[in-house]
Amino acid sequence: MHFQWYPGHMTKARRMMQENIKLIDLVIELVDARIPLSSRNPDIDELGKNKARLILLNKADMAEDTLNDEWIGYFKEQGYSAVKVNSKKGGGIKSIQSVIQEACKEKTERDRKRGILNRPVRAMVAGIPNVGKSTFINALAGKACARTGNKPGVTKGKQWIRLNKNVELLDTPGILWPKFEDQEVGLKLAFIGSIKDEILQTEELAAELIKFMNSAYPGVLEEKYDIPAAEDIYGCLRDIAKSRHCLVRGNELDAGKAAAILLDDFRGGRLGRITLERP
Ligand code: G4P
Repeated sequence: MHFQWYPGHMTKARRMMQENIKLIDLVIELVDARIPLSSRNPDIDELGKNKARLILLNKADMAEDTLNDEWIGYFKEQGYSAVKVNSKKGGGIKSIQSVIQEACKEKTERDRKRGILNRPVRAMVAGIPNVGKSTFINALAGKACARTGNKPGVTKGKQWIRLNKNVELLDTPGILWPKFEDQEVGLKLAFIGSIKDEILQTEELAAELIKFMNSAYPGVLEEKYDIPAAEDIYGCLRDIAKSRHCLVRGNELDAGKAAAILLDDFRGGRLGRITLERP
């Protein structure tokens, strides 16, 4: 699912968030483990103030594990509850219910002092497009359960998924807009495929990825594509084209095709577990 963001889109998403956030105790914010900062929304702290906060480092399977742990430490230091998960395979999902309860401990305690007992914690999932919100909700709720809420015509109002007697989850995630106006952020979102490639920019994007790989993960591209070490970025792209037999008009190297292969390999995790930003 790709989103073209324009002001109207953003206003609508913001309004939805503002409405739904009133109903809940806890914001479960999904970020992409490969870009834990760039996949965050600039306004989430303002929107979610006075709420319990949990950050999930999703797609942890695609990022370097030692850095996952460093990021968890970083977010905890900032006062959030934080855990890493793989929503696709279910890794880390089992422990989520207890993590949710832990994240809402203060609120439950406050309720108890006021004599409010057994009121379930209400939570919502939020994050930028493609970060894995639906996958996570399905993994947490079980597919059948999440689907009931989504059946068209069954219900108009809000649907809550009852996870257990203590936790209820809003079935529709909050969609947040990315910080697309920041060039660096835009580049990283494009690397992971969250922003649609412009056909013409594929080579430029691949060149930027080569630059990053050569400095942060030296040797990986050489090994993957069986190419010599090269200082020259576009030379490297040509070497990949050569190694993968990307040719146009019979014998000219097709750098565009090589760029697409490289981006696709990166996004598919075939270059290994790679984290694009460090705490
Ligand atoms: P969204 O609701 O936030 O927009 O995201 P969604 O759940 O649709 O997930 C976007 C893509 O990310 C999906 O891939 C999904 O399978 C993948 N994904 C979600 N969580 C994880 C995770 O923890 N690890 C990995 N490796 N992938 C994850 P897709 O290519 O759109 O679909 P599919 O090919 O998986 O069916």
